[in-house]
Amino acid sequence: MDGNGRWAKKRHLPRFAGHKRGVDAVRSTVRACVRRNISHLTLFAFSSENWRRPAEEVSLLMKLFRAVLERDVDVLHEQGVRLRVIGDIEAFDDHLQNLILRSMERTAGNTRLTLTIAANYGGHWDIAQAVRRALAETPELAVHPERITEAHLARHVTLADAPEPDLFIRTGGEQRISNFLLWQLAYTELYFTDTFWPDFSPAELDKAIASYQQRERRFGRTSEQVEAGETGPPYLSGAHTEC
Ligand code: IPE
Ligand code: MG
Repeated sequence: MDGNGRWAKKRHLPRFAGHKRGVDAVRSTVRACVRRNISHLTLFAFSSENWRRPAEEVSLLMKLFRAVLERDVDVLHEQGVRLRVIGDIEAFDDHLQNLILRSMERTAGNTRLTLTIAANYGGHWDIAQAVRRALAETPELAVHPERITEAHLARHVTLADAPEPDLFIRTGGEQRISNFLLWQLAYTELYFTDTFWPDFSPAELDKAIASYQQRERRFGRTSEQVEAGETGPPYLSGAHTEC
């Protein structure tokens, strides 16, 4: 979700006004995904690198995260949304951590849309924590590193129990992954738009989906194989993989 600051600057407003409007775009995008029967939406809200921003902006972003959780979880629950947060949440203050855990528990039984917020998240962090968890689960891997397979990591990266992402959307004109879901995006279709995040609308979402629908997903195969009906990702996601 990029472009909040530039959206505000264009209007001679403080950057924070852009972040606030960005929350409105989150609300309308979540509703649009529910209406379109999309099963998973993952939003990059705050990266491991965003701590480098001016302290005042970081503190306002934390306050905003807290306010949104306090205000919106009821509405999300009514819409059948299951909320999850991925990232190193231990860096947040106790109040925010508790709020995150309570919001996840409250909505855990919902099945219409899994909304995952990546907060203090980084793709490098994700892979490192997967290695730590794989070794904690199977300590002999530390003695026999040659036995570590992709499947071990696939089971422990975040979103291991979710389908591999179909579509990645980056707003705000940059064409970068910026340390988002590095492992999980291996075969995801990438879509970039100049629209600033606060202006991202259901119509913009439909444009991205229409672009996705034009793509041929081969997962390493040839066009001829795909036409003959051989489909599906190259390997199953972690939850379904036997090690
Ligand atoms: C994205 O918008 C929001 C967060 C990273 C929290 P930016 O704040 O990066 O907006 P620009 O890139 O300055 O326009
Ligand atoms: Mg930015």
